[in-house]
Amino acid sequence: AIAPACTLVLFGAAGDLVKRLLMPSIYDLAVSGVLDPGFRVVGVDRADISTQSWRDGLNAALHEMASDPAAEFNAGAIREDVWQDLAGRLEFMRGDVTDDATFEALAKRIDGNAVFYCAVAGRFFAPIAEGLGKAGLLRRPGGGFRRLVIEKPFGDDLASARALDAELLSLAAEEQIYRIDHFLGKETVQAILALRFANRIFEPLWSAEHLDHVQITAAETLGVEGRGSFYERAGALRDMVPNHLFQILAMVAMEPPADLGERAVRDAKGRLLSAVRPVAPDDMVRGQYAAGSLGGAHRVGYREEPGVDPRSRVETYAALKLDIDTPRWAGVPFYLRTGKRLAAHCTQIVLQFKPPAHALFGAGSQPNRLTLHIDGDKGLRTAFDIKAPGPGWALAPVAEAFRHDDFFEHVPNIGYESLLYACMMGDASLFQRADAIEAPWAVVEPVLEAWKAGEPEPYPAGSAGPSGADALLARDGRAWAPLQ
Ligand code: BG6
Repeated sequence: AIAPACTLVLFGAAGDLVKRLLMPSIYDLAVSGVLDPGFRVVGVDRADISTQSWRDGLNAALHEMASDPAAEFNAGAIREDVWQDLAGRLEFMRGDVTDDATFEALAKRIDGNAVFYCAVAGRFFAPIAEGLGKAGLLRRPGGGFRRLVIEKPFGDDLASARALDAELLSLAAEEQIYRIDHFLGKETVQAILALRFANRIFEPLWSAEHLDHVQITAAETLGVEGRGSFYERAGALRDMVPNHLFQILAMVAMEPPADLGERAVRDAKGRLLSAVRPVAPDDMVRGQYAAGSLGGAHRVGYREEPGVDPRSRVETYAALKLDIDTPRWAGVPFYLRTGKRLAAHCTQIVLQFKPPAHALFGAGSQPNRLTLHIDGDKGLRTAFDIKAPGPGWALAPVAEAFRHDDFFEHVPNIGYESLLYACMMGDASLFQRADAIEAPWAVVEPVLEAWKAGEPEPYPAGSAGPSGADALLARDGRAWAPLQ
């Protein structure tokens, strides 16, 4: 269906998020024909540029990404007709979001439906909401909508997240606020719900009765990529854990919602997230990459990156053990880890099964594992034992795979397409309610507190992370699955 006509206002229009992710996604939506003829984009930024130079810059970035096989954008050749049509709907407005005049000027350009997207640093979310509120831009036109999209960081701890939410909710209604987590835009993350709840062969095994533990990994080979000064204030934990990894955790561990409507889905997630116990002091490990070799090249250590304090104690790796207080997960720990400059780029979920109740064949050759590959070679793999050919009853490890690309045509998808579209359609099921922001902060609060002191453990760039993370599992008689 075509989304209702609306004006999409991009605050931070000259920034990286718009260039690398939002505009390519809008272009993809244009290609798929779901944009109404009345769809327009107003870019707002302090940068001193014209509408023409904004369009030209975006066009150049699209072409660059389309020809870069490593970019997440995979449009092949940019369709000139689509771009020309889209470019004609892009308008740039110079403005400072801390200045009321910006919003007064904006109000003159907008009537009808509007989506306000904060593609700016977190400290500007509240000023933008206030500016919009004062200029009357959050008042919904008769029968129409005014929506505010914000993206992490939603605060930097529980108190600031609560304060931000209170502030936003004093200016707009909850149903006007769309909190984006781009991991929920990933096909493979959405697919977890279908895998679990549309099949009979997985869900019955998805519990403490059969599972030994679960691992959630988001490993990156990238370093901080020129974002040193941002990262110095964030660190791996705040950057990835209470947001992206907890969203994956919720998809993997939530109870089935009553239906796929936003209320039921968000209620089910909320219940799960609020059942995660705050992290215990012994259950957290932090690391920081030191110099090392990766992909055949020498990589500098984090402390030598531009914008980073040479004595920085900020972690670039975090691993946690979590317990969930629900009957389904009693006694089944969830181990989470994320880090930069690791040996491989890999986002995966591993469900490791218990051994059979009756060990007819003795200890198996490998634990049964079901692995969901979220990025890279997307799909699902099972690892199990089978009888080794030949006389006797020896076991041999085997594996079976479902590769997403064997079944489905590759559709360009950066992840923001479905989120932008859902926002225009008014479907908030893939967005987060305030409770899904606050509960994870409460879980990691002890970690934030503990990591105010001490030092992260160094690990060489190109390794699998700090040895403390291996010890975290070894202590429980377990081991991380390889990064692959
Ligand atoms: C972002 C983080 O939110 O997610 C980055 O700020 C990280 O540090 C990125 O690299 C990972 O996202 P993806 O989609 O590349 O796995």
